[in-house]
Amino acid sequence: MKEIKLEKTFWYYEDYSSFDAKLLELFKAAKEASKTAYAPYSEFYVGASIMLKDGKVLKGNNQENAVYPLGLCAERVAILNAGAIYPNLSIDKIAITIDYERIKLEDLAFPCGSCRQVMIEYENRHSNDMEIYILGKNQKVMRIDSAKDLLPFAFTKDMLK
Ligand code: THU
Repeated sequence: MKEIKLEKTFWYYEDYSSFDAKLLELFKAAKEASKTAYAPYSEFYVGASIMLKDGKVLKGNNQENAVYPLGLCAERVAILNAGAIYPNLSIDKIAITIDYERIKLEDLAFPCGSCRQVMIEYENRHSNDMEIYILGKNQKVMRIDSAKDLLPFAFTKDMLK
């Protein structure tokens, strides 16, 4: 038997207000996106924003459906939109948040497993890791330097060979 231990680093900041202007713009976009989420069933409003290699910012939010399983998470709406419109640009950063004004949660809300898998596909597609920022209440934020840190032993295209 062999024990496998994984070491991962997660950066937690109590207050992101002194981050650089480009990042603050990205965070603002994620918060704005959460305001227009379509989540009448769960009433859990999620916003995501991504920064492409050239600095462009795109937004996404969760889009639910009366057929519940058809709904899509904010992260995937944003990432797949980037893939459709700018297929040749890697994603450098993604920010994710929820609408803390409408959701009574004190903690950070982490991306689901399916979104982690989609992030990894994007990282691999462009050979470029993305910084992931999970925005909490009152300027709290966690930074993770690659989706691979959020989903060890992910399924990847090499396995299909
Ligand atoms: N949701 C997201 O948008 N992102 C996540 O990573 C977790 C969950 C959405 C899906 C659904 O519309 C609602 O939040 C409740 O699960």
